[in-house]
Amino acid sequence: MKKFLIAGNWKMNKTESEAEEFIAALKAKGLSKPEQVCVCVPFTDLRTVKKALEGTGIGIGAQNCHFEESGAFTGEVSVPMLKEIGIDYCVIGHSERREYFNETDVSVNKKLKALIQAGITPILCVGESLEIREQGTEQTFVAGQVIADFDGIGIADAAKIVIAYEPIWAIGTGKTATPDQAEEMCAFIRGVLSGIYDNETGDAFIIQYGGSMKPGNAKELLEKKDINGGLIGGASLKVDDFAAIAEAAAGIE
Ligand code: 13P
Repeated sequence: MKKFLIAGNWKMNKTESEAEEFIAALKAKGLSKPEQVCVCVPFTDLRTVKKALEGTGIGIGAQNCHFEESGAFTGEVSVPMLKEIGIDYCVIGHSERREYFNETDVSVNKKLKALIQAGITPILCVGESLEIREQGTEQTFVAGQVIADFDGIGIADAAKIVIAYEPIWAIGTGKTATPDQAEEMCAFIRGVLSGIYDNETGDAFIIQYGGSMKPGNAKELLEKKDINGGLIGGASLKVDDFAAIAEAAAGIE
């Protein structure tokens, strides 16, 4: 049976009370496969959302962390801090963090290692810009990100990392990669991982697509062989849309 993870990335949206309201409405939907769904929320919402999700099977994630355990890093949040709250996932290397907050493959790699050590599942984002896509070098670029981000991560831990292929030109633009374009890149990424590790490990990875996924296009994307879910921005902020995407995945064997 195909594995799926439908992850909402709220980005910098929803105050604590808005988050509480959202989770109550999501619970009321009665998702058919809650264990393959999670919401990645702002730090300030983590405790409230964790409590609200108790007993639902829906997972919870953060959107960033620091790689050091503690210390003089004003404004940062460490992995042990997240661990104590009981989070399941953490988004790492999102293109917005790479672009606006100086996230590099070196810091991404350190964060992945810190999360794996703590038993939190990283959701690692990779993906090319429009400029790179137009040059036709997206595969070289994304392979470079994957190789650098997985540097020094052993075969026993590798497939614990969820990968989100997010072409930057499709994020928040309403312009979705076609199912064939998304499948081509997700299959390519799986091939790169099989090359670094082995075929069995490559096959074990959950590889998501992200970029303007919505109820109207989710099914055809999720039906593709190498696409194991979605990392959803805008549509994850609306309960009806998010639940519809989760149900689209739940209906695929
Ligand atoms: P949108 O779904 O809003 O395009 O965002 C995608 C994304 O960046 C999820 O991390």
